[in-house]
Amino acid sequence: MRESQEFLRRAGCQMMTKQRVRFEHQHDLVTYDAAVGGTSERQRLGAWYTPQDLVDTVVANVVTAEFVALRMAVGAAMKVLDPACGDGRFLAAAGRRIRELGGTCELVGVDIDPAAVYATASLLPEATTHCEDALERTWGSPSFDVVLGNPPFLSQLAAATTRSGSSSRGGGPYADAAAEFLVLASEVVDSNGGRVALVLPQSLLSSRDAGDARQRIDDRARMFWSWWTGERVFDAQVHTCALAFEFSAPTEDQSPRQKSQPTAARSPTWSHVVASRIGVPSLPDAVTELADGTLGDRAWLNANFRDEYYGMAPAVGDHFDGPRLITSGLIDPGRSLWGERPVTFAKQQFAAPRIDTAKLEGKMVRWAARRLAPKVLVANQTTVIEAVCDPGGDWLPAVPVVGIYPESADADTAWQIAALLTSPVASAWAWKQSGGTGLSANSIRLGPVLLAALPWPPAGLNRAVEALQRGDIRRCGLAVIDSYEIAGVRDELFSWWAASLDRIEARQPRL
Ligand SMILES: C[S@@+](CC[C@H](N)C(=O)[O-])C[C@H]1O[C@@H](n2cnc3c(N)ncnc32)[C@H](O)[C@@H]1O
Repeated sequence: MRESQEFLRRAGCQMMTKQRVRFEHQHDLVTYDAAVGGTSERQRLGAWYTPQDLVDTVVANVVTAEFVALRMAVGAAMKVLDPACGDGRFLAAAGRRIRELGGTCELVGVDIDPAAVYATASLLPEATTHCEDALERTWGSPSFDVVLGNPPFLSQLAAATTRSGSSSRGGGPYADAAAEFLVLASEVVDSNGGRVALVLPQSLLSSRDAGDARQRIDDRARMFWSWWTGERVFDAQVHTCALAFEFSAPTEDQSPRQKSQPTAARSPTWSHVVASRIGVPSLPDAVTELADGTLGDRAWLNANFRDEYYGMAPAVGDHFDGPRLITSGLIDPGRSLWGERPVTFAKQQFAAPRIDTAKLEGKMVRWAARRLAPKVLVANQTTVIEAVCDPGGDWLPAVPVVGIYPESADADTAWQIAALLTSPVASAWAWKQSGGTGLSANSIRLGPVLLAALPWPPAGLNRAVEALQRGDIRRCGLAVIDSYEIAGVRDELFSWWAASLDRIEARQPRL
């Protein structure tokens, strides 16, 4: 015990509890994660350790022979940092690889958890370890050749892990702590050719609150490698990706205006990491460059939330009369399955749910009146956009269906919007903006803010509307491609989108 106390002191740790230290001292380091407190402690620290094959994949793709040769050419040992090192597995793999490639290195590991620092120091006695909060640490002006690892993913929606407010590194209140680690890595890496490679939550690719972090990286680095799988590789209930960036000093031609432009205006996403892997074609710049404004210029958009859910629940039933209630599950591209497919709403099954408006109270009366107008309803977690037109304004949206209501309150505009959304262009565009935000790997979350920004095509939509009104979804999609004047990608876009339509139609009830 005295020996381990001395070890901890050298490793820069303080002993937290007797039990933890003793426990660590007796265990093989490879099974170290079993020692990190209980589940709640793991959640608080985001301590989900990286499978060794992923560690090796990241290291092999980032610490390449050319990179090591280039960095060693200056003569000094390469400096490698893992700012949330856990048991030191990333540092160990990086050190091994550098040595195999003929280089030398200094390894630095930081972790807030004394037991983790203890494990790293035991595994890598040659490493420098610090038991500190990496985000609060005074770093001075280090210049690491490589910063790598798997920082904690700390959801800002959960009480146990929220930092309660905006990130000190520029992220919005809901930006995962992992985004702060990414910015930290960019601050301490050598801005002249250094590399950062982190395992990150998939949401960081496109979430609004991580936009500032993405912007900061994009301004100074290029993403040269990424990894993504639709499967969950950790016990943690999130999808992950791994991203690698090479940094370079800002060039002369980056004008001050370009650097200071507000994030929201450019809103860069890294959704291509997911989108390209699941085969979503990229769109030509013409889609935005030739656009005649956006969908949001022509309509107001809204999604219902908790209040509306509780407000409408007592009024929903398989009534004889009243507006139809349209849930996400009842919306397929160009078609409502109301009455054909049973639905569950507020934990009850209905065959053909309607809202008895006489049972609505207070503000829900105004809510319903405003929504009984020509509109388009959009399901919210899908692979391609699934939208249906309600030209007569006879239906009401369930939660969390997005409603799109033409400002002019006319059926013609509602049809145009429905046609526009029933196209491969709108779906590929949404993936580009929002890929990675869905609950499953193959879905996108479609909210009002996203859909309002959809570029409106320069040419008319009459042919697309006629096809949609005939129920010819595929011709509608092809006509919308023509309206955007992007014939060059017509076939690629269409075949990707049509494959999803085939899958959707295969699960539809027979007419
Ligand atoms: C996801 S684990 C990853 C550990 C290791 N890098 C790996 O890939 O297996 C995250 C680690 O971050 C540590 N951690 C959490 N908050 C931290 C902070 N603010 N500063 C430094 N380390 C932190 C946890 O203790 C945990 O060891």
